[in-house]
Amino acid sequence: MAETSRVATLTLDGKTYELPVMSPSVGPDVLDIRKLYAQADVFTFDPGFTSTAACESAITYIDGDKGELLYRGYPIEQLAEKSHYLEVCYLLLNGELPNAKQMEDFEFRITRHTMLHEQIHNFFRGFRRDSHPMATMVGVVGAMSAFYHDSLDINDPWQREVASMRLIAKLPTIAAMAYKYSIGQPFVYPRNDLDYASNFLHMCFSVPAEPYHVEPALAKAMDRIFTLHADHEQNASTSTVRLAGSSGANPFACIAAGIACLWGPAHGGANQACLEMLREIGTVDRIPEFIARAKDKNDPFKLMGFGHRVYKNFDPRAKVMKESADEVLELLGVHNNPLLQVAKELEKIALHDEYFIAKKLYPNVDFYSGIILEAMGFPTAMFTPIFALSRTVGWISQWKEMIGDPQGKIGRPRQLYTGPVARDYVEVADR
Ligand code: SDX
Repeated sequence: MAETSRVATLTLDGKTYELPVMSPSVGPDVLDIRKLYAQADVFTFDPGFTSTAACESAITYIDGDKGELLYRGYPIEQLAEKSHYLEVCYLLLNGELPNAKQMEDFEFRITRHTMLHEQIHNFFRGFRRDSHPMATMVGVVGAMSAFYHDSLDINDPWQREVASMRLIAKLPTIAAMAYKYSIGQPFVYPRNDLDYASNFLHMCFSVPAEPYHVEPALAKAMDRIFTLHADHEQNASTSTVRLAGSSGANPFACIAAGIACLWGPAHGGANQACLEMLREIGTVDRIPEFIARAKDKNDPFKLMGFGHRVYKNFDPRAKVMKESADEVLELLGVHNNPLLQVAKELEKIALHDEYFIAKKLYPNVDFYSGIILEAMGFPTAMFTPIFALSRTVGWISQWKEMIGDPQGKIGRPRQLYTGPVARDYVEVADR
């Protein structure tokens, strides 16, 4: 629990109000304005929450100036290199790295929750084959609350735990089924003898007609992509999950809300939008045309995969992803991938362009991820579902932290109202 380190004073209309200043373990101090409205009859105004700490959290920390990302204090670069996704899931959920026994137990439990209730398969058949897999995932994850009635009570720690395991375990199965359904291939059941990432690749790319071999280097790259996307403070989709959870909604409904929010092209949908942009640019010589459009105030075009609310020097995930892109494309023999050439040239040009430097716009996690995923065989429509399944552990960890917060209450922001004041109804004959 953060402590009050000192007091700020606000003077308004001749009156002075004291605002406690709370100090975090690292990062900016915060002004505690919880009593401001009661004392001064004023709201604060912060659309987009650019200067607002919506909660206290001990899970993930980002230093946007240093390009630092910590999961429970561990730098993302070290976790991407030395850990693996399920160990990162344990860390995010429990706050500490597991010992060997804890890891074995956790992996056993997750592995045995990967199958979906067989009747849920029928939900997929209600969608058009050309539905976006994110539409399917929002629908199917929300529908899980119609099946797993023994893990809906958010006030029961055991049910919260089971719901968490089910969501982390089943999201890859659901994402893979959404992909298989979209290409008219049969669903592939999970296999308990495969690790998390290998199982996902198996469920996506194997077919009943022949054996499928998971290339270990690709499974490792897939696992690293999961880790890089696992959590990210109070981003839009995590804030959505917290807000939904604050009303007491069941965990499946909350995660479905997070998936819906992540779908937006300004957020998790950027990986798909970025690859489509690179494809539209096509060749290096067309880059200046798109840079000019990105700088044109009258053109809504933005360089997808560029910019971030918090990172103002570089996104450490993008650095790891760029290294991984080189490795994966080399492994797949597509190192001269034209999209990668365009992406690298675009990054180089943009990072030396005054506009992008002045606005502190750098490649974010979505800039290189799509290039790797496409090289691995995923269609662009599967990029955001992969982001969603990776982020499920972050959403769940933040949701559990919120449920366990003794200060927790339903989220209900106020507003700066500028509409009409009270007025009487006018009969249509008099209008
Ligand atoms: C993710 O929050 C998270 O942590 C998210 C995420 C996570 O892990 O959860 O990191 C994942 O969502 C990454 C971001 C993916 N989105 C994109 O790549 C889409 C393109 N980027 C932009 O839409 C934008 O940069 C945002 C949404 C990411 C950030 O927007 P902000 O913080 O609200 O900043 P802004 O839109 O106010 O931009 C500041 C200025 C603006 O110009 P001015 O109004 O000051 O003149 O920079 C410009 C913007 O027009 N700008 C861009 C730009 N991004 C911002 N100009 C060109 N190209 C861009 N990509």
